[in-house]
Parts: sequence; structure tokens; C-alpha cells
Amino acid sequence: MKPSVLDTARYLQMDRQNVWHPYTKQSALDAGSLPLITRGEGVYLYDSEGRRYLDAISSWWACNLGHGHPRIVEAIVRQARELQHSILGNLSHPRAVEAASMLVDLFPDERRVMFASDGSSAVEAALKISLQYWHNNGRALKTKFVALDFAYHGDTIGAVSVGYLPQFHKAFRPVLFPVFQAPSPCCGACAFHEAPGICLEECFDTMRLILREHAHELAAVIIEPMCQGAGGMRIHSAEYLRRLGALCAEKEVLLIADEIAVGFGRTGKMFAHEHAGILPDIVCVGKSLSAGYLPISAAIVRAGIANTFRDKPEDRTFYHGHTFAGNPIAAAAAVETMRVYAEDRIVERAAASGDVLRRELESLAGMPGVRNVRSLGMIGVVELLEGKDGSGSARAQRIREALFRKGILLRPLGSVVYVMPPLVTPVEVLREMVVRIGEAMRDTA
Ligand SMILES: Cc1ncc(COP(=O)(O)O)c(C=O)c1O
Repeated sequence: MKPSVLDTARYLQMDRQNVWHPYTKQSALDAGSLPLITRGEGVYLYDSEGRRYLDAISSWWACNLGHGHPRIVEAIVRQARELQHSILGNLSHPRAVEAASMLVDLFPDERRVMFASDGSSAVEAALKISLQYWHNNGRALKTKFVALDFAYHGDTIGAVSVGYLPQFHKAFRPVLFPVFQAPSPCCGACAFHEAPGICLEECFDTMRLILREHAHELAAVIIEPMCQGAGGMRIHSAEYLRRLGALCAEKEVLLIADEIAVGFGRTGKMFAHEHAGILPDIVCVGKSLSAGYLPISAAIVRAGIANTFRDKPEDRTFYHGHTFAGNPIAAAAAVETMRVYAEDRIVERAAASGDVLRRELESLAGMPGVRNVRSLGMIGVVELLEGKDGSGSARAQRIREALFRKGILLRPLGSVVYVMPPLVTPVEVLREMVVRIGEAMRDTA
């Protein structure tokens, strides 16, 4: 039901008093009132005043099937009536079994699924599984991780240790565990390829060196395959990933692919690691596992690793689990999501739409103040030239404001203006979105 204008004002007043908004600067709250989102339908969100916004970031990269999908809503309601919660500790329930089986079926090898709640909790599980795996195997010295510059893996302390972004995390530095840091991979087409020759080889060299010298103490390498998201939508080559997969296998270091943002068709493949033809030891999924309908995530683990977690002759049980891990309603949403993906050929459609997005974005490449335009599947990026005074980031914010007035929701990352619209966004809407971005860029030049 649409609240009246009076209700909106009251809600916003209560919001100011009571709600602590994540990743939101106080100055932005002070500057103006927030839209009160009351409804979602298709690729649009609607505020309490009836204004419509294209959800061009899929509500933090989760709502790949858009909003208000009748089948997923129905699956949630049906499950809530039947069984709203039951744990997976020494018990099971049909939706968790179905969701796990469907996830495993997406892989060519044998796997086991450890459910969690949010992306960060899936990453924590993956890190701990890696550590305990080596412990189980009598190689307890393998306790360290390799992470990449500009990585982001979530906001809990373990996830921040392997995904440290100074702009977000510097206050926590003293309590983070140390990790080996490898340079962020770049590819010839990316914005970071500034000096010819120091691209793939150079970046990979450091990674190779770390693994060569420290494999005996390394538990795992963790990577956001093909695109580092929150660190600036840095798209890298499949070749980097292919080499990393081979190196990890050779040096007996586990490879964790954090597919929380890029999994489920975002890059034009079901999983981004498929671009490189590799099979990571642990794959983390979240966000779009339930198409953003309910919090559910998972670490999908090679059976050879999971099988070492036994309690005979010694107790090697994985003493880890979140209260709502594999919650029946969330699992029902995940099961229905995966059915829709298969029946509606969502990934193939996303790959085709991604081609349209890439072609449309090319028209913005020559515009003043543009450093680089890049895309991968349904991720589209316009990176602005940044000045020492932060002028690129400031312009990105003006672009965001201009597009918001035009009914398009974006959240630039510094000077990086990006779109990650629902995978089901019609191509006419994608085209229109890019036209509007171009207008906003002209207006803010
Ligand atoms: C690659 C990646 N990993 C992990 C996370 C954390 O997920 P959550 O916010 O659900 O904890 C995110 C969130 O943006 C992400 O992009």
C-alpha cells in the first residue's frame, strides 16, 4: 500500500532517529531526505511518492531476476506455511537437500555444500574450511592466505583480512590477520594497464613468487574471479585466472573463488571461473543464490576436501554453523531461483544482453573526462579520470544525482561509475539507461 505524503515524512523522521545506514556518509543523510522504497516490480523500485527507479545495481548486485518475481514469492509463501525454520545440525529438511543438490549439479565434479547466511559468512566458512583441511591432513603449518590488492570479500574480520580496502577498513587494521598480498591482476583492456609490458606477466610474477616461496605455509589463495567488484570493478583476463588455477594445483595451495558478486550469470557464464576453464577448490556464492529474495549463501567445497572432516579415528568435525544457515524459506527461494535460471535460460540471455550493453557503452568511451570504458557480461563500467583533488569522484557523485533525478539508481565507487542491472533487464531498457548515463555525463562535464 502506498503511504500518504504525511506517512513518508513521519517514516523519514523516524529513520533519522533510529536507523544506522550501512555504507552511508552522515553528510549525505544531512544533505537531504532518502527515498523511502515501498515496492519493487520487475527491474524497478518504487518510492512512497510513486516515483520509479531502474535498479541499475540490482540492489547491491543481488536481485538478478528483478523484483516481485511471482514464482519466487510463491515458493517463499508456500515454504513459510510449511516450515519456517529448522536447523541443519543433526537434522535435515527437503529444501536444503534440493538447494545443495542443485548447486552441486552445476559443477562437473563431486562437491559438498556448507550453507551460510550472507556473503561474508560464506567467505568465513571457506577460510576456516581451508585451515582445518590442512590441519586434518597433518599439515598444520599451512595457515596463511594470499589475497589480492583491491580485493573485497565482505565486512567481517576474517573477510576484511583477505579483502582489505583502506578507504573502508583502516580502523580495523590492527586486529586483522596478516596475509600475503599480490598485485591486482590487470588485462590489456583495463584502466590499470598504464605501462605496456607490466600487465599479466608482471602481476602474475609476484603471485608466482609468493606461491613458490611460501607454499609450505599457505592454506589458500582467495580471488574474485574475472572482476574485483567493490575495489573498483577491475576486470581481469581469463588467462590470469587460468594460470592461477594451475599454479595453486601445482603448489598444493587451495583456490577459493569468491563468486558472491559474479556468480549466477553476472559475467555471461553461470560462474565466472568458467571463463578460465578451471575448477576452484571452494566456490563461495551468496547474493543471487536466492535472486536477492532472502539471505542465503554457501561454500561449495570439493568432496575430497569435505571428506577429511570426519570424527573417527580422530575428531575432525567442522564445528562451525550459523543459526540460519540453509534456512528452509531462504533455501526454498534458492531452489525456485535455480529452477527459473534453468527454465528461462537466464545465463544465455544475460550473455546476449551483455553484448548489447558492451556495444552501447562504447559510445561513451570518447567523452571528455573518461579514463576507460569496460564491461564483462552484465557489468558495465565507465571510469572517470581522477584528479588529485578527487574531482573524478565528485563528478561521479554528480552523475549519480543526475541519474537519480532521471529515475536510475547507481552507486559509483569513487570515480568508477558502473551498472550491474538485473540480468533480465530488457535490451531497450539497457539502451535507454546508457543514453541517460551519456546525458548525465554531458551535463556534469
Ligand atoms: C565479492 C564479494 N564477496 C563477499 C561479499 C559480502 O557479501 P555480504 O554483503 O552478503 O556479506 C560481497 C558483497 O558485496 C562481495 O562483492
